[in-house]
Amino acid sequence: MLKLEDVNTYYGGSHVIQGLSLEVETGAAVCILGRNGVGKTTTLRTIMGLTPARSGSIRIGDQDTRGWPAHRIACSGVAYVPAERNIFPGLSVEENLRLGARPPCEEGREGWTLEKVYEYFPVLGERRHGGGAKLSGGEQQMLAIGRALMGNPRLLLLDEPSQGLSPILVENVARIVRDLCREHDLTMLLVEQNFRVALEMADIHYLMGTKSIIQDQVTSEDLINNEELIKCHLSV
Ligand SMILES: Nc1ncnc2c1ncn2[C@@H]1O[C@H](COP(=O)(O)OP(=O)(O)OP(=O)(O)O)[C@@H](O)[C@H]1O
Ligand SMILES: [Mg+2]
Repeated sequence: MLKLEDVNTYYGGSHVIQGLSLEVETGAAVCILGRNGVGKTTTLRTIMGLTPARSGSIRIGDQDTRGWPAHRIACSGVAYVPAERNIFPGLSVEENLRLGARPPCEEGREGWTLEKVYEYFPVLGERRHGGGAKLSGGEQQMLAIGRALMGNPRLLLLDEPSQGLSPILVENVARIVRDLCREHDLTMLLVEQNFRVALEMADIHYLMGTKSIIQDQVTSEDLINNEELIKCHLSV
């Protein structure tokens, strides 16, 4: 579904992503784990075309998308949920969801509807007519994910879905997202600093060090069994 090879991204003269390569198989749930500032967000922004790579190759499905503008990448079936969530505070929950709606990019794929989003996130259904500004952090996260689903993506990019949520809510959101990806054949790449969320949501983990250098690729089982890996790369 996604393959990056020797990707380099800069902010002006600052070389933030240095030769990043990684792969996400169709239907997989993959997490990039790394501490503050290693370049996790920039990696997602690079894939999405928001901070374009200066060199290297980015393949999404069978297309080379490097150099494509973000809207074209979105139309090819990629949805990005930024850490800031970017909910429109002056619009209702339902209006926020409708704004994300887009026809399915693959023939035969069943489309998301408002009702289906409310099935996974009942609290959004309860608040469908309420304003986006009145939602808690956790509800905003659910709304941002729901809005991304309304675009009928095949690849979902999530930036630190646990940020700012209480531990109980984090577990709840993580479980819902993992289930809906499995049930809807959705490929997911998320970035996290939180080890527990990574384990809950993903099966394969890339451990990222400074300059976005991938230091290891491990399974959830490897992570659980290797305390040193956890101490080195993550907040627990
Ligand atoms: N707009 C920008 N202009 C210049 N430098 C930036 C910009 N955004 C990020 N950086 C720098 O790029 C590096 C990677 O940042 P990035 O936000 O991708 O890291 P991150 O792993 O997502 O961090 P965090 O865990 O804090 O979210 C950091 O050194 C950061 O200071
Ligand atoms: Mg970040």
